Amino acid sequence: MAPRIAIVFYSLHGHIQTLAEAAAKGVEIAGGKADIFQVAETFSPEVLQKMHAAPKADYPVASAQTLLEYDGFLLGIPTRYGNMPAQWKAFWDRTGGIWAKAGYSGKFAGIFVTSGTPGGGQESTFLSAMSTLAHHGIIFVPLGYKEANEYITNLDEVHGGSPWGAGAYAVSIVIPVPRLESAADRIKGGDGSRAVSGLEKKIAEIQGQAFFEKLSKVKFD
Ligand SMILES: Cc1cc2nc3c(=O)[nH]c(=O)nc-3n(C[C@H](O)[C@H](O)[C@H](O)COP(=O)(O)O)c2cc1C
Repeated sequence: MAPRIAIVFYSLHGHIQTLAEAAAKGVEIAGGKADIFQVAETFSPEVLQKMHAAPKADYPVASAQTLLEYDGFLLGIPTRYGNMPAQWKAFWDRTGGIWAKAGYSGKFAGIFVTSGTPGGGQESTFLSAMSTLAHHGIIFVPLGYKEANEYITNLDEVHGGSPWGAGAYAVSIVIPVPRLESAADRIKGGDGSRAVSGLEKKIAEIQGQAFFEKLSKVKFD
């Protein structure tokens, strides 16, 4: 039986959603099909408005039960202080009952991420998600270098994406830093004004393709 793949994301400004759609395209290129979901929002409409959030996409919201229906998940996680956002944490914090029955144990997961800037914590976001996967017994499937080497190692342009998984940068908003006076002494953070690049989408597409191909070698009931 072909592996059943879910792509689940949380996105405030749309970058992770773009990567999710590119990964879904990759799964299709490999001959499979991926169902796309988002995790539930935990912010009020007022907070979302203040954060200049993009309108919510039309994808269904995944519950903890949703993942039980799939063999593998690709998880789209935007960086928050080098970690997963509260919305993703709230999702996992509702999975205690499933954890108690080892419901996700033996399932497979790949991860893709976004952050405001290079050095903003993409790698630590991957790393911090490992603990959740380990506790659930979910098998992490990295992107690796094999399929995407020429894109990951491209140093001609700034891009996200690493052997951990696809990635994109969302710069930039200028945040004045108290105590620093000159314009040069301002920090650029992530408001989502940079579009996901073609290279970043390509890496996400390859991740979707490679993920499906790897899982196709596994025997599922
Ligand atoms: C509360 C908060 C914390 C953030 N922390 C980081 C961070 O640690 N490093 C970083 O590079 N970007 C950080 N960002 C920027 C987001 O990672 C970026 O906007 C997001 O990944 C874009 O993805 P999206 O368009 O799918 O929402 C933060 C954004 C917010 C709102």
